Amino acid sequence: MPTHPSPFTRHSSLVTRLPSACIFDLDGVLVDTAKYHYLAWKRLADELGFYFSEADNERLKGVSRMASLDILLEVGGITHLSAQEKLVLADRKNNWYVEYISKMTPDEVLPGALEFLQQVKAAGVKIALGSASKNAGMILQRTNISAFFDAVIDGNKVSNAKPDPEVFLLGAQELGVQPSECIVFEDAAAGIEAAIRAGMKCVGVGNPDILHRATIVIPSLLELRMNNE
Ligand code: BG6
Ligand code: MG
Repeated sequence: MPTHPSPFTRHSSLVTRLPSACIFDLDGVLVDTAKYHYLAWKRLADELGFYFSEADNERLKGVSRMASLDILLEVGGITHLSAQEKLVLADRKNNWYVEYISKMTPDEVLPGALEFLQQVKAAGVKIALGSASKNAGMILQRTNISAFFDAVIDGNKVSNAKPDPEVFLLGAQELGVQPSECIVFEDAAAGIEAAIRAGMKCVGVGNPDILHRATIVIPSLLELRMNNE
């Protein structure tokens, strides 16, 4: 039996008792979809005639689809596109992205995520999704984790992208819990900021240099154990 540290007991600043709810970001926390976003954005950049690197792709994590397109166009030095032209490009990228994620399997749930969701559920803590993606429903379905969620807040339900707290506040509202009773799990700096603005504690999943504003940072959900004693 591995002895992973439990931030829920180790970090008394995070919780002194069980939270009412856990709100999970999707891309980068529960599933690795960044590679599919990259493939699709790169395909668009190739078509437009410039190179889009993996390092450039890092800047798109947690960022909404249209804001991602703006970053991509900035990388390519493409200016003066109309709003309509931008919508066409974003749609083209999304069609490719959907083509990729429609082939996802349950194996693509990130290490530790399934086990942690099971522990949270077993502890009687409510679970919400708080994602910027408009494709969240398909991803949850393809990876077979839909049933864990008591509320799903995604890009189709919110009008203000992270770092705006809307997505997480709506999650708390749909679950019928106070924001201060929620813990957010996020892999993007904009998401950590959104959680802080929502008055929630947050676990950063990933690089501590990027996620330093989180209450705690862990490399992956493998590090967590729900302490429900
Ligand atoms: C976020 C991703 O979860 O969703 C971003 O981190 C992405 O990279 C955003 O741009 C929007 O996703 P979608 O699926 O609606 O284009
Ligand atoms: Mg994310």
